[in-house]
Amino acid sequence: MYHDRALAGITRTHGAPKTAPQHFVPASAPALDCAIIVPTYNEAGNVGLLAKALEAALEGWAYEIIFVDDWSLDGTPDVVAAMAQADPRIRLIRRFGRRGLSSAVLEGMLASVAPILAVIDADMQHDEKLLPALLDAIRGGGADVAIGSRYCAEGSVGNWGGTREAGSRWATQLAQLALKAPLTDPMSGFFAVRRDVMLSALPRMSNMGFKVLLDMVASLPAAPRVAELPYTFRNRHAGESKLDSTVVIDFLMLLIDKKLGGRVPPRMIMFGAIGVLGLGVHLSVLTLAMALGASFIVAQTGAVLSAIAFNFILNNSLTYHDKRLRGPAMLRGLAIFYAVCGLGALANVGAGSVVFAHDHKAWLAGIAGAVVGSVWNFLISSLTVWKKK
Ligand code: GDD
Ligand code: MN
Repeated sequence: MYHDRALAGITRTHGAPKTAPQHFVPASAPALDCAIIVPTYNEAGNVGLLAKALEAALEGWAYEIIFVDDWSLDGTPDVVAAMAQADPRIRLIRRFGRRGLSSAVLEGMLASVAPILAVIDADMQHDEKLLPALLDAIRGGGADVAIGSRYCAEGSVGNWGGTREAGSRWATQLAQLALKAPLTDPMSGFFAVRRDVMLSALPRMSNMGFKVLLDMVASLPAAPRVAELPYTFRNRHAGESKLDSTVVIDFLMLLIDKKLGGRVPPRMIMFGAIGVLGLGVHLSVLTLAMALGASFIVAQTGAVLSAIAFNFILNNSLTYHDKRLRGPAMLRGLAIFYAVCGLGALANVGAGSVVFAHDHKAWLAGIAGAVVGSVWNFLISSLTVWKKK
């Protein structure tokens, strides 16, 4: 399902914390003012420079830096481990067999007990000199969330191309749909938040994709007090961006999830929309084959097989892009999908017949059958074809 199982576990057990044991004597001042979370995937050429820049920027703050690495193969974890050996304020979390910026950031945040948590990209695109101002906005008590914004006051996206800037502005507008209070830069990956505020958003967060700030703010029980501080987005220092076309799908799924209050899995909506397109494919193949002289039975068989394959390919590359099957696994998945949809057709006819026997409305029976068949296809294929890795 859409919600990460680990997070669902957290949600279920979310409740009032137990009181501290009697023998625990708290120190007079908290040991940590803040934690800086740095998600990394193949950033070996950047992490050293970033750690130095953070050390200079955070003079006077009691901080820890938590790198959360998703098994980079370019040596990033080794570089961070060496830095952590030399400086106890630096920590490394390694995750295995998983990818995802949002979930990496959340896991980093959950690993810290600091009262203020900040996030910064590893590639030097965010201006670390803004961090003390972000942290101060929260420590001063004036804000729950402080965001480095490219779109307020004199903030800027630096020298981006026109298309990327237009795309980003368009997404920013669309994102407002999910927000109780408008933000100038809801896609920002550069922000600080009070720890307890983050924890209050956690049970409702989708924990998927790139948009951790948007997800968090849209999941809070009440609109937070927000400080937005301008900065200029810099060019990436070394390496390359991990953003690809799938972030658009992630973003749309996140918006749908937030708009529906998390009640209907966005994957199910996506699956249904692709099903409707599949109906178009079915009718086109049927018409074309008959126009070419095929008998109805042959044309209809071809249409069913093509429509199922079409649904499989689109769901595999969009709805389940994070679990995409490739090569032989993809062919195996297609075979299972055919079997699932075959049983779905039986469920469709069965449910339709029950409704028809009850009140003899063919259209109602047809719709009921289609709904039961589609829900079957969605649920069973998510458990078999695209089961959790
Ligand atoms: N652990 C982990 N896992 N880290 C990741 C992953 C992942 O799957 N994907 C990306 N990262 C890390 C990168 O290593 C980098 O430190 C940071 O997340 C941002 O990734 P980039 O690939 O540099 O993203 P970008 O520069 O294209 O996008 C930035 O701007 C967007 C707004 O336009 C990011 O700040 C986005 O969060 C932001 O939405
Ligand atoms: Mn970047």
